[in-house]
Amino acid sequence: MDNLALKPKLFRIASKIALRLGLWPESNPLLYPLSGDTCIQYAFAISNLLRLNKNNYQTVLEVGCCRSSLTPIMKELGFTVCGIDLMPSPLSYKGVKYIQGDFLTLNFKDSYDIIVMVYVLEHVGLKGRYDSTEVEDGDIIALEKVKQILNPGGVLIFTIPYGVEKTVKPLHRVYNRNSRLLKYAYENFEVQAEEFYKNNSKNIWVKCEESEARKVMPSENNYALGLFTFGNKVT
Ligand SMILES: C[S@@+](CC[C@H](N)C(=O)[O-])C[C@H]1O[C@@H](n2cnc3c(N)ncnc32)[C@H](O)[C@@H]1O
Repeated sequence: MDNLALKPKLFRIASKIALRLGLWPESNPLLYPLSGDTCIQYAFAISNLLRLNKNNYQTVLEVGCCRSSLTPIMKELGFTVCGIDLMPSPLSYKGVKYIQGDFLTLNFKDSYDIIVMVYVLEHVGLKGRYDSTEVEDGDIIALEKVKQILNPGGVLIFTIPYGVEKTVKPLHRVYNRNSRLLKYAYENFEVQAEEFYKNNSKNIWVKCEESEARKVMPSENNYALGLFTFGNKVT
C-alpha cells in the first residue's frame, strides 16, 4: 500500500495506537506521514556545509549523531568530525570521534568551527523518548552550550519542527520565530540562511514561506520544518 495514499485521519488513529503500544510511528513507514523530512534536513545541512571555506572551517561537532548519516558524509567532505549522543553510536566510522554523553553536562575541552544539530533540539530535555531526562528549558540550555563552544565566526546549523508552538510529549517540541528558542538564536547569532517546508494535502514536502509554516497545527505526526544556519557573532 502506498503510504502517501492513506488519509490523514487514518494516520492519526493508527499512529495513536502505535504510540500506545510503544511503537514509534516512524519505525513503520505505513503509519508515518513525515517520511521524507530527513532528506530535506540532510540536504540543507550538506548544502550549507559545502559553501564553507575549508581553510576557515575545519572542525565539526554533530550533536545527536546517533543514527545520523551526516558524520560519515562530513568526514568524507574533509572535515574533522566529532559526534556526541546520549545513546551509543551504532557505527564506528574511520576518523570520526564518537562520544556517548549528555551534551548539556559534558565538559568540552575543545571548541568547534561548526556545530550541527539535525532534528535534535526539539528532544533535548524531553523525557520519554530516546534516553533523555527531563530538563526544563533543555533546548535553550543546549543553545547556550553551543554559544560557549562554537568558535567566534563559527557556524551553527540546526533543523526543528515548525508550526504553532506546542510540546507534543514525549515526542518533540514545535517552534516558530516567537518561541524562546528562536528568539535566543536570533539575539545571540546572526542568521545566514533559513528555509521552511510543509506537508501539502498529498503528504508531499514543499518549500513554503515562514508565514505558512508558522500556521501548521502540530500533532504526533504533523509539523512543518524550519531549517537554519546561524553565524556566531565575533565579539
Ligand atoms: C531524532 S534523533 C536525531 C538523530 C540524528 N541527528 C539523525 O539525523 O538521525 C535525536 C537524537 O538526539 C539525541 N539527544 C537528545 N538529547 C541529547 C543530549 N542532551 N545530549 C546528546 N544527545 C541527545 C538522542 O539520543 C537522539 O539520538
